[in-house]
Amino acid sequence: MKAEDKNRLVQALDLIEDYFGNGYKRPPAVYAFTGGPVRSEAAVPAESAGSPALSEGDSAGSPQEDSLDRIAGEIGLCTGCPLHATRNKAVPGEGVSRPLALVIGEGPGADEDASGRPFVGKAGKLLDKMLSSIGLSREQNCFIANVVKCRPPGNRDPLPGETLACSPFLTRQIVLLRPLAILSVGRVSTGLLLNTGAGIGKLRGRFADYQGTPLLPTYHPSALLRDESLKRPAWEDLKTFKAKLDELSASVFGEK
Ligand code: URA
Repeated sequence: MKAEDKNRLVQALDLIEDYFGNGYKRPPAVYAFTGGPVRSEAAVPAESAGSPALSEGDSAGSPQEDSLDRIAGEIGLCTGCPLHATRNKAVPGEGVSRPLALVIGEGPGADEDASGRPFVGKAGKLLDKMLSSIGLSREQNCFIANVVKCRPPGNRDPLPGETLACSPFLTRQIVLLRPLAILSVGRVSTGLLLNTGAGIGKLRGRFADYQGTPLLPTYHPSALLRDESLKRPAWEDLKTFKAKLDELSASVFGEK
């Protein structure tokens, strides 16, 4: 058997073991918790230091050679847009390496910039609660990422050039993570992923397609903190998301 085929077989067996061995909620021990404080810079090849975000195809080779750790390392060293100059820590994202769901937000705020971890401030605590209400968590079955990996000063929206420079990192993360479904929280991530300028109020609650993966736009948790009346529709969206995940899990794995 060729080495390439052998690798594929090992990967497939690994996947089957993960999914069938542990059911819908998989124990954290099975997964790498890939995020957390930004990766040690020493772990990143020196030649990638200072390189801007890579575009698809000119990354470090084929998708098989790419890895979440490698991407996190490159993000930690990225100088591809002006946001690097004002960041304390870059925030690559965190969660399990084979998530049921990928949650995508806008960009780090002050707490995230200080810790190097996504969604750890007030909005993050609410996001964790929302996810937990439908059986999801970053420790067990989710990955949480942002469109831009460095904090826009004063929590302003990322500028188009910043999003453009950073989005190849997100693209590579999505390719590696292969989530069953994506939950896009807020206007900025939804606008980028669906290439639309429509408002989130119009887009939320209905699944769209992101390159073959179902993507559900919903309100950003910060919006829910500002406006309580959005909590009910957001809850409806979460139920819609959970129903889709259940359906996909059943069709892919034969059970919930
Ligand atoms: N808001 C976001 O969009 N992302 C974070 O990581 C934190 C707050």
